[in-house]
Amino acid sequence: MIKNICCIGAGYVGGPTMAVIAQRCPHIKVTVVDLNEKRIAAWNDPDVNKIPIYEPGLSQVVAEARGRNLFFSTEVDQAIDEADMIFISVNTPTKTYGIGKGMAADLKYIELCARQIARVAKNDKIVVEKSTLPVRTASAIKDILDNTGNGAQFQILSNPEFLAEGTAIEDLFAPDRVLIGGDTTPEGQKAIQQLVDVYANWVPKDRILTTNVWSSELSKLTANAFLAQRVSSINALSELCERTGANVNEVAKAIGLDSRIGPKFLKASVGFGGSCFQKDILNLVYIAKSYGLHEVADYWEQVIIMNDHQKRRFAKNIISTLYNTVSGKKIAFLGWAFKKDTNDTRESAAIYVADDLVNEQAEIVVFDPKVGQEQIQFDLNYLNTRTEEENKNAVKSVANPYEACKNAHAIAILTEWDEFKSYDWKQIYDNMLKPAFVFDGRNILDKKALEDIGFKYHGIGVNEI
Ligand code: NAD
Ligand code: UGA
Repeated sequence: MIKNICCIGAGYVGGPTMAVIAQRCPHIKVTVVDLNEKRIAAWNDPDVNKIPIYEPGLSQVVAEARGRNLFFSTEVDQAIDEADMIFISVNTPTKTYGIGKGMAADLKYIELCARQIARVAKNDKIVVEKSTLPVRTASAIKDILDNTGNGAQFQILSNPEFLAEGTAIEDLFAPDRVLIGGDTTPEGQKAIQQLVDVYANWVPKDRILTTNVWSSELSKLTANAFLAQRVSSINALSELCERTGANVNEVAKAIGLDSRIGPKFLKASVGFGGSCFQKDILNLVYIAKSYGLHEVADYWEQVIIMNDHQKRRFAKNIISTLYNTVSGKKIAFLGWAFKKDTNDTRESAAIYVADDLVNEQAEIVVFDPKVGQEQIQFDLNYLNTRTEEENKNAVKSVANPYEACKNAHAIAILTEWDEFKSYDWKQIYDNMLKPAFVFDGRNILDKKALEDIGFKYHGIGVNEI
């Protein structure tokens, strides 16, 4: 029976996942390690509200388990040495150099973990791929472990994570399924069973699915590709709605009632963001290309092309509606996170919309309930399209939404935070320059109520012609 788990990577996946395992399995010691000292210090902050990731319900889980059987540490070697089972939960970003640049997953962090495990491990261990990885990565990890280790035996499992940010804790408490892939050998099957036993402490057995390693690795990329494809599909239709007078919300409802299609994941938007959809599809495209499957690659690449178009189209619409110039105009952004209930901004549509508008010399003032100035500047600087000084001058952040909107020419809704709906929109209108425009990139506001106040409302795929 597994008694000691180590997780390498204390990020959006490692942190919440291990916190839930520790809370649900008080008999297992769980140590989450990371090279990032600042991040580990934040996980250990005595004020549980200051942990580095904002996720509803997470601080309560951490408060219950931390110090009991949940530990956060920078002592990577020690945690590896003590563990029976090691989860690798490090980042696997898109490569920014060399072969596969801009498409393939960069596996350098994964390889470093494998080499460190091989160097440190003195007894047999189960190594679990929790990060999202290209299909067949397990064989590379096994090769490194077997050829650089001290003779210890390793079993490699694939156990991809399907949680969505903002709902991570509910997803982890009651997952649709837990997927575990392993070798078909008796040792592989035994390792699978040991991980099944961990999850079975709170997940019903019929929701724990076991497969071979390659199916598990590929299922993760496939799931994200299908989800992102749905968003790009409805977003593609949103543009057609705008030309024809159809309403995309009504179309989504009408098709979603077909039980074969289903109602979820059909919200038209300014475009999907997040650290994974784009990177995982690009990875899928790269893998397909590397096997010479060009039609397969082109098919999935279109999901990304459509998403880029949707983000650019949103910015263009703001510019053309504001009489073809936003130069020197103040545009208020409500929201910067890539979705509500998270402080994660990676690949958020807001970053790209801001970039396009700043290129047109707009002045942007952002309010996001969970994202501040430092992160916003980091995101813009990361794009590398202008100097840090220029970004600082062009995009500011304030701590009050009413201040953000004061004297603005237009408001753009970039994130679907619930609180935006309950603002005093009459007060906001009174303090704006007229005509006062709202570009609702999430279709969350009440179009009619806003128009009654006097706003000129532009949603995604909902405009009358
Ligand atoms: P993240 O960047 O938030 O966290 C990764 C952490 O790993 C960082 O803190 C980094 O310092 C640490 N790290 C990297 N190399 C290390 C090493 N050698 N030793 C110790 N620590 C190291 O990333 P994330 O969002 O948690 O994603 C991790 C993986 O999970 C990715 O493969 C991602 O695709 C996948 N995933 C993410 C989500 C999500 O919602 N964010 C959901 C499902 C799957
Ligand atoms: C997504 C998947 O939902 C998770 O199952 C997966 O584990 C995770 O990626 C991952 O591998 O990282 P996440 O990116 O956290 O989770 O959030 P989603 O809820 O999927 O939203 C992704 C983006 O799509 C957001 O920008 C969201 O606003 C957008 N979206 C989503 C829409 O525009 N419309 C929708 O109908 C749904």
